[in-house]
Amino acid sequence: TRRITVRDIALAKERGEKWPMLTAYDAMTASVFDESGIPVILVGDSAGNCHLGYDTTVPVTLDEMSMLSAAVVRGTRRSLIVADLPFGSYQEGPVQALRSATRLVKEAGVGAVKLEGGERSHEQIRLLVESGIPVMAHIGLTPQSVNAMGYRVQGRGEEAAQQMLRDAKAVQDAGAFAVVLELVPAELAAEVTRTLQIPTVGIGAGAETDAQVLVWTDMLGLTSGRVPKFVKQYADLRQVMTDAAKSFAEDVVAGTFPQEEHSVH
Ligand code: KIV
Ligand code: NA
Repeated sequence: TRRITVRDIALAKERGEKWPMLTAYDAMTASVFDESGIPVILVGDSAGNCHLGYDTTVPVTLDEMSMLSAAVVRGTRRSLIVADLPFGSYQEGPVQALRSATRLVKEAGVGAVKLEGGERSHEQIRLLVESGIPVMAHIGLTPQSVNAMGYRVQGRGEEAAQQMLRDAKAVQDAGAFAVVLELVPAELAAEVTRTLQIPTVGIGAGAETDAQVLVWTDMLGLTSGRVPKFVKQYADLRQVMTDAAKSFAEDVVAGTFPQEEHSVH
C-alpha cells in the first residue's frame, strides 16, 4: 500500500469523483478512518476546540500541531495527511510560513499543509508550493480570524461573492492543490467549484463541492452542546461513552467488576 498523493486528488477532479475528508487529532482515531478508506485526513487546528479544550483555534501552537500531526501520521498508512498551520505561524510572510510548514513535514511527516486566507495568503502558498510542500487553501469562514469576522456565513451579496471568486482564483494561481470553502452559500460554492480546476472541499457549503469535510467529533456525536446546522451526526459516541463509563462505575461500586474471568492467579 502507498499513501494517497495530491496527484490522486487532482485525478479525482478530472474524473468527477467526489471524496470525503475527516479531521483527526490522535493516532487511534486516525487509524479507524485510515482503515475505513477515508482518503484525506486533516489534522485541523479545530484540535483547539475539539481536543485541547480551548474556546477557539487561535491559541493553538505549532508545537501542538506538530505533536498531534506526528501521532496521526504514525496511526495511518494510506490516507494523505494534511496539517493546519496554526494562527501566528504564517501571517508574518512567506519565509515564516515555509519555516513552519517545513517543521510539520520534517518532524511530523505530513504530506501537505493547510492555511487560511485567499488573496491575503497567496505569497505564502506560492513559496511553499515552489519549495515542494503541497498546500490546501481555506477561504470563506476562516476561524483563525474569529476576533475580526465572528462565525458568520461568508460571501453573501454580490461584492462578497466577487471577492470569494477572486480569493479562490488567487489560491489556485498560487499553486494550491485544493481549497476548503467554509460556511459559504451553496450557489456560490457551486460557482467556485465550476470555475476552478482544483477541487473544492466544502463544510457548510452545499452539495456541489468536489469533496466534503467534517470535524470528526461533530460527525460522531462526541462534541458536547450544540453543533452547527451543516453537521450530520452519524453516531452518538457521547451517549455510548457516557453509558459505558456509568456502567463501569456502578460495577466497581457494587463489586461486580472484576469477575473471575478478569482475574489472574
Ligand atoms: O480545523 C479544521 O477542522 C478545519 C476544517 C473545518 C476544514 O479547518
Ligand atoms: Na482549521
